[in-house]
Amino acid sequence: MKILEANDIVAGYGKSEILHGVSIYVEKEEAITIIGPNGAGKSTLLKALMGYIPIFGGDIYWKGDNITHLKPHEKVDRGFGYVPQLGNVFSSLTVRENLEMGGFIQSKEIIREGMEKAFQLFPILAERLKQKAGTLSGGERQMLGMARGLMSDPELLMLDEPSAGLSPKVAEEVFSTITDIHEKMGRTIVIIEQDAYQSLSISDRGYVLVMGQNEFEDRADKILSNEKIREAYLGG
Ligand SMILES: Nc1ncnc2c1ncn2[C@@H]1O[C@H](COP(=O)(O)OP(=O)(O)OP(=O)(O)O)[C@@H](O)[C@H]1O
Ligand SMILES: [Mg+2]
Repeated sequence: MKILEANDIVAGYGKSEILHGVSIYVEKEEAITIIGPNGAGKSTLLKALMGYIPIFGGDIYWKGDNITHLKPHEKVDRGFGYVPQLGNVFSSLTVRENLEMGGFIQSKEIIREGMEKAFQLFPILAERLKQKAGTLSGGERQMLGMARGLMSDPELLMLDEPSAGLSPKVAEEVFSTITDIHEKMGRTIVIIEQDAYQSLSISDRGYVLVMGQNEFEDRADKILSNEKIREAYLGG
């Protein structure tokens, strides 16, 4: 079953159109990776799907309902979770305050449960609760960003470059956590990545986005073994 389906999405900023009719879908409990060069519109696509920028054309369906023009909080209510590429945590707030904000629409009880789950996935956060997020290491901040995204207990988690700026070792830990969120917790995952080997290797399918349009799509293992795509978009 397609849990999320976006058809011919046209969106951008003000008068400048960035996405010229992009289509993607995600099956329930699937993980997909979207790759493409800088400026292709990958982050813009996630912002459009979340409702942070207006959609000029096309439709978005969630479990068969047309949700194209819902507001971000309404999408969160339906099960969307989103970890943006930048500014995913508030530096001046503590780890605890950041997590509480991530669950802002939930009851105290659900926030407490959410935090317990977050500490199982990211034990380091439990030791850093009173620390200001701005003083965390890059990897810890990324984990806090993911933990925040999970506080609303989303069915769908969309991650914009979760490994950006991390050392290979920490990036590996982040991807292993994403794999747990996908496989053990049964969540549907959309990942955007530039350095996409790891991301594709934990995904079912992948898309290549170029200049605001679909360029290519296939099973993730086939993308990884496709020489032309590897040379063009995965650094050989
Ligand atoms: N707030 C904004 N206002 C105007 N233009 C924007 C805005 N944000 C992004 N853009 C433009 O939209 C285009 C697509 O940007 P986007 O961030 O979606 O690319 P991306 O594929 O995520 O790139 P990267 O891999 O570098 O993160 C770029 O040309 C960018 O300059
Ligand atoms: Mg981006």
